[in-house]
Amino acid sequence: MAAAYFSFIALCILPPIFLLIFLKLIIRPRPVRIPITSRHVFITGGSRGIGFALARQAAAEGARVTILARNLEQLEEAKTSIRLSTGVDVAIVSADVRDFDAVKLAVESADPIHVLICNQGVFASGELVNLEIKEVKRMIDVNLIGSFNLVKAALPGMKNRSDRRPVSIAFMSSQAGQVCTRDLRLHN
Ligand SMILES: NC(=O)c1ccc[n+]([C@@H]2O[C@H](COP(=O)([O-])OP(=O)(O)OC[C@H]3O[C@@H](n4cnc5c(N)ncnc54)[C@H](OP(=O)(O)O)[C@@H]3O)[C@@H](O)[C@H]2O)c1
Repeated sequence: MAAAYFSFIALCILPPIFLLIFLKLIIRPRPVRIPITSRHVFITGGSRGIGFALARQAAAEGARVTILARNLEQLEEAKTSIRLSTGVDVAIVSADVRDFDAVKLAVESADPIHVLICNQGVFASGELVNLEIKEVKRMIDVNLIGSFNLVKAALPGMKNRSDRRPVSIAFMSSQAGQVCTRDLRLHN
């Protein structure tokens, strides 16, 4: 009886385990860890919040870091704070991501980029019916068009690197999108 019981349990448990192992072996792309030491990490919205924390962490791990935001005074404060906590000087650049020409100039004035982190973002909370359309447009302009501007400006330099080292682009997102989608489904 016990043998039958254990056989039944094994039959239930082993196939999913083998399936997971099989999937782990075949799934591509595999996650890879690329050290950022001495690589150039360009972080937008790096003057405060999450972008600032990322910049400080990257600097502490030995990366060369540039932070971009609009407010120059806040960028200077972030630079000083990172220097005090890590001993590393980050580069700062002031630009509005909605302005492609300004973004292009900022990217071109910086060192060649290995890692671009599009972290800038604004969020107007509330239900769409209660939001002013200009608030919606501002979110789209800063979060979406701003990221397109950044990638369009940075990609040529990232693709044509002579050192052939891997480059990457990351986008900061939010669960707010999922919440909105869920709410819309609930209301339909
Ligand atoms: N905090 C959260 O709980 C949370 C949750 C989910 C997702 N996120 C996402 O995570 C990212 C960072 O969030 P956070 O809370 O750390 O943001 P934050 O503290 O409000 O900082 C936003 C950063 O973006 C910059 N920025 C805003 N508009 C810009 C523009 N037009 N051009 C260039 N830079 C601009 C700001 O500097 P200036 O104002 O000087 O330009 C600042 O450095 C955002 O994309 C946000 O949507 C945050």
